[in-house]
Amino acid sequence: MIDKSLLPQHVGVIMDGNGRWAKKRGLPRTEGHRRGAEVFRTISTYASDIGIPYMTFYAFSTENWKRPESEVAVIMDLFRDFLHEAEDRRAENEKRGFRFHFIGDLTVLPEDIRALADYMESQNPETWRTTVNVAVNYGGRSELVHAAREIASRVRDGALSPDAVNEQTIAELLYTRGQPDPDLIIRPSGEYRLSNFLTWQSAYSEFWFSDVLWPDFTTDDFDRALEDFARRSRRFGGI
Ligand code: FPP
Repeated sequence: MIDKSLLPQHVGVIMDGNGRWAKKRGLPRTEGHRRGAEVFRTISTYASDIGIPYMTFYAFSTENWKRPESEVAVIMDLFRDFLHEAEDRRAENEKRGFRFHFIGDLTVLPEDIRALADYMESQNPETWRTTVNVAVNYGGRSELVHAAREIASRVRDGALSPDAVNEQTIAELLYTRGQPDPDLIIRPSGEYRLSNFLTWQSAYSEFWFSDVLWPDFTTDDFDRALEDFARRSRRFGGI
């Protein structure tokens, strides 16, 4: 059991390796995503059980539209299923203390998904234990472009002076406004990159990599990441 004071307050997860997991088994890639969505449920539930207040899962990036239409459609279906299921289990989720938040540009998603996501956010409980951010059509650079446009238009309208723009101004214009930056970012599947995930927010994050493919990722793997994190010395530029 990890000392609670050493637990990260915010963990980001890049759910990678679904396609390879399926290929290894001679299954269509989409089966990997299906299994990956199950693991998303398991890990978010476990994170709330052990008291991690913020989790962010990278489900679909701004670059993932380059994938075959059929694969994108299945990922959207999985997202839709998750939203319906969360609605069906609202009482249970509320008891558990889940609060769901969607980060990314949802405006281009199918209308029913947008409506479901908006509705779900509007139903979030006042008190919660774990905020689960799901990143869909998310890109760190596009998030910063969005913030830059907003700052430019406030300056143009005379509502903001260029000299008053600081890190806080930008942080408050991101999808994660009001949330702590991720302390830990987990990337399974043997890849060692951030792939446009939480670009601004990850400035001081610790990284944890593993060769395990996301559909095989277990709560034991998650524990290993947390144990490693608890041993890290974070100096934030100090000594
Ligand atoms: C990356 O693996 C995974 C994705 C691009 C999609 C992840 C989506 C899900 C797990 C489902 C989301 C659903 C919910 C409910 C949040 P990859 O396909 O790039 O794997 P590969 O590198 O092995 O090809």
